Amino acid sequence: MRRVLALSLAALAAKAAGLPPEPSRQCAACHPAQSRAHWKTLMALTMASPTEAPLLRANPDLSWKSGPYSYRIFREGDRPVYSVTDGRNTISSPILWALGEGKTGQTYIVEHEGRLYESRASYYGEIKGLDVTIGPEFADPDSLLKAFGRFMTTGDVVACLNCHSVKQPGSPAALRSGSVEWAQARVPGVHCEHCHLSPARHASARMSGDRNTARMRRLKDLVADETSELCGKCHRTWADIDTNGPKGIANVRFQPYRIALSKCYDPGDVRISCTACHDPHDRSKEQAPAYFDKVCESCHRAGAKTVSGRRLRLCKTAKADCVSCHMPKYEIPGSHWKFADHFIRVVRPGEPYPG
Ligand code: HEC
Ligand code: HEC
Ligand code: HEC
Ligand code: HEC
Ligand code: HEC
Ligand code: HEC
Ligand code: HEC
Repeated sequence: MRRVLALSLAALAAKAAGLPPEPSRQCAACHPAQSRAHWKTLMALTMASPTEAPLLRANPDLSWKSGPYSYRIFREGDRPVYSVTDGRNTISSPILWALGEGKTGQTYIVEHEGRLYESRASYYGEIKGLDVTIGPEFADPDSLLKAFGRFMTTGDVVACLNCHSVKQPGSPAALRSGSVEWAQARVPGVHCEHCHLSPARHASARMSGDRNTARMRRLKDLVADETSELCGKCHRTWADIDTNGPKGIANVRFQPYRIALSKCYDPGDVRISCTACHDPHDRSKEQAPAYFDKVCESCHRAGAKTVSGRRLRLCKTAKADCVSCHMPKYEIPGSHWKFADHFIRVVRPGEPYPG
């Protein structure tokens, strides 16, 4: 525990000096452009310690009422505390981590009596306040503890934090995966190593001038299916959703699945890969919706062909703002957010959600 704390203090000092957190700090020296841009993305900011989360700093006292239960997130000294009461009894615990940057939503991992819970109250950017966390398990709590949150199995903790954070370098190897101590010893956010495998070996070999050992997989060469697999580690792959669901509108947020349903999608073409529309490091370039027109037109323009040599059709209806008609937005009930449907298609008025 003390070791983990000392490591966190070192991380805070580096952060104060404007350096990105380890293990991605060493990359910044040689790849300044990617590093500078990355640490401003929502992916990089998708998890934060409660004392640092900008959303909790800006909202030091949040409250919400749901049936007989009243919720509050407030500060005790410097520490944000999450609490729920039914009027007679109260459960109240310090927040361990804030997950989600908050533009769409933010949910809290809270420790209570040595176990971890996913908060039943989440913050939503659209309503600038708390509402119930998405998921059937949060719908009708039959006890104060269930109203507090969902008990997380060690498997839940590991899955959750592997997508939203990385291991703290030097954290004790003996920590039991998914335990409270393991969960504490995380560095928040999506890091370079989430997408670039074995970067530490590369970095040290680069520093010693060993070019062969330093070689990295060139992600620029990936075709659409390979990129979908890479991003699908977190955004879920086509196979994940095809096998496990969900069916219906809840799957609109799983872009690698949705885009594969489009006639536009060709697994071997780079022009329809995630990175054709989204720079993985720099999200500031996207100016909706005209920004995306040139991606559509990399295929849908006079004379362009598919990789197998087929000619592509053109739109007779309009010449700009393609995504506004062909990638409509849908709100998952309770999510307070409209997700762009990556199933690119001709949308008929009043048609039910396909898939
Ligand atoms: C000592 C300097 C140095 C450090 C530290 C370093 N790199 Fe590199 N990296 C290089 C050089 C030089 C290249 C080769 C550039 C080229 O061939 O375009 C490279 C190439 C890469 C590539 C492959 C680019 C391509 O061709 O697609 C990636 C990805 C990469 N580095 C990521 C990282 C990450 C992540 C880290 C942090 C763990 C890191 N690097 C740390 C110097 C460094
Ligand atoms: C390690 C997990 C992980 C991987 C891998 C990953 N993402 Fe993400 N991504 C996230 C999380 C978490 C969020 C939610 C950020 C938030 O709002 O808190 C997100 C959000 C996004 C967003 C919306 C937010 C924004 O910045 O506009 C885009 C676009 C995105 N990811 C694209 C990609 C692409 C493209 C890839 C593959 C090159 C990728 N992601 C790979 C975890 C990941
Ligand atoms: C397989 C990887 C993965 C796992 C596991 C995971 N997340 Fe996420 N999370 C993501 C991605 C990717 C996004 C971006 C979602 C999007 O734009 O559809 C995200 C977004 C979020 C958001 C932002 C609000 C929203 O709904 O978009 C919150 C809050 C969140 N996750 C909390 C959690 C919590 C709490 C857990 C564990 C119980 C968890 N996540 C497990 C990948 C994951
Ligand atoms: C969400 C996934 C993701 C994350 C996180 C990520 N990268 Fe990348 N990176 C990619 C992809 C995909 C490419 C290929 C670029 C392309 O297709 O345009 C790439 C390319 C690169 C390159 C080669 C540059 C080029 O244009 O060929 C370097 C260097 C690099 N990344 C460094 C980093 C560093 C340093 C970090 C951490 C600060 C980082 N990346 C974080 C996905 C990611
Ligand atoms: C042809 C362009 C295109 C491709 C390819 C594409 N996207 Fe998107 N994506 C968009 C548009 C347009 C939006 C909505 C942007 C907005 O409203 O600001 C979006 C939004 C998102 C978001 C934010 C969630 C939301 O809807 O608010 C995520 C996450 C995302 N895309 C991930 C991916 C992933 C992962 C892939 C690869 C499987 C991918 N995208 C491929 C165009 C594309
Ligand atoms: C990799 C090339 C490629 C890209 C990029 C691409 N498409 Fe397509 N698209 C195709 C192919 C191939 C078809 C099927 C044959 C055809 O219509 O020419 C198609 C079909 C369509 C259709 C007709 C679908 C139907 O149900 O008949 C629409 C609408 C469409 N694309 C819109 C778009 C929009 C909007 C974008 C940008 C967001 C886009 N496409 C990007 C290749 C692409
Ligand atoms: C105002 C809404 C709107 C916008 C904006 C728009 N489209 Fe369309 N598009 C449609 C409709 C509606 C159809 C179906 C026409 C029909 O079948 O009668 C269509 C059809 C298509 C088709 C199939 C053509 C065929 O011959 O079947 C393609 C490909 C396409 N659009 C691509 C694009 C691209 C690329 C852009 C941006 C440059 C774009 N669309 C902008 C509404 C739009």
